[in-house]
Amino acid sequence: MSTQSHKPLSIALLGASGRMGREVLALLPGNTGFELSGAGCSPEGGLLAQPVSLLQKGLPDLRFDGNPSKAVAGASVAIDFSLPDATASHLDACREQGIPLVLCATGHDAAQLEAIRELSKTVPVLLAANTSLGVTLLNRLVEIAASTLGEQFDTEIFEVHHRNKRDLPSGTALKLGEAVARGRKAELAELAENRIPGSQQLRSPGSIGFSAVRAGDVAGEHTVLFAADGERLELVHKVSKRSTFAQGALKAAQWLADQPPGLYEMSDVLGLN
Ligand SMILES: NC(=O)c1ccc[n+]([C@@H]2O[C@H](COP(=O)([O-])OP(=O)(O)OC[C@H]3O[C@@H](n4cnc5c(N)ncnc54)[C@H](OP(=O)(O)O)[C@@H]3O)[C@@H](O)[C@H]2O)c1
Repeated sequence: MSTQSHKPLSIALLGASGRMGREVLALLPGNTGFELSGAGCSPEGGLLAQPVSLLQKGLPDLRFDGNPSKAVAGASVAIDFSLPDATASHLDACREQGIPLVLCATGHDAAQLEAIRELSKTVPVLLAANTSLGVTLLNRLVEIAASTLGEQFDTEIFEVHHRNKRDLPSGTALKLGEAVARGRKAELAELAENRIPGSQQLRSPGSIGFSAVRAGDVAGEHTVLFAADGERLELVHKVSKRSTFAQGALKAAQWLADQPPGLYEMSDVLGLN
């Protein structure tokens, strides 16, 4: 689906009433690159049928819609900051109307990921667990570090997020784990290790562990620790403002609008592949 560079890109925002949806809405007034064409919320949401201007002044005269097919109608791209439970109906709506999808929700199970891959055969889909520039680059740096350091280094992926985050480990932590495994020319499932608190189990050398904290209002922090006998390397990324993710999602939408069907990630948007 091609867009003229001088014409604003019409976007449907799914999960528009949530924390991240509101961050995207806040970037739109006065932004000549984008035009909001629809705003989705859950079918029983507190803001259902309310005007989007309740949350953000300067937006088109639209109401929050609990029907994804209606929310995406007429859009050039959909951006989804909802939750995994909503993904199936959002995929259906985008398939029916041929709308490219920037999927920013995280915590999908294997069946949901398969449905996402299926959709990408007919429309462009960008699966972005983290739309920040820094984390996109971190994935690449982690792959290089893992490949260089090898199996003598144990890897721990440590993340901190706000108390309302549901999925654990975060989608970003899992992607970082995949980057470590790629660097080691292995699958994450082969190297990942879940140690049970209270058990006397020792760490398997060279394994990938995950640790997480949920507290306060932390927007998102990830540390990838490589530790061997005598030295350790830590690669750290911290987000201080959620608008960082919202800006990345808009950048991704602009890029995806001109792509053929396929499954993409943020590294494609930044030309890292
Ligand atoms: N990609 C990234 O860079 C990035 C960054 C931060 C967060 N995230 C992810 O983005 C997602 C949203 O995070 P958040 O903090 O904004 O969550 P949130 O505040 O809980 O918002 C969730 C949104 O999803 C909607 N929703 C929930 N169930 C739905 C359903 N069944 N059908 C349609 N809409 C539904 C909610 O609508 P109601 O208000 O009507 O309930 C709300 O708009 C999470 O998966 C999070 O991990 C991604």
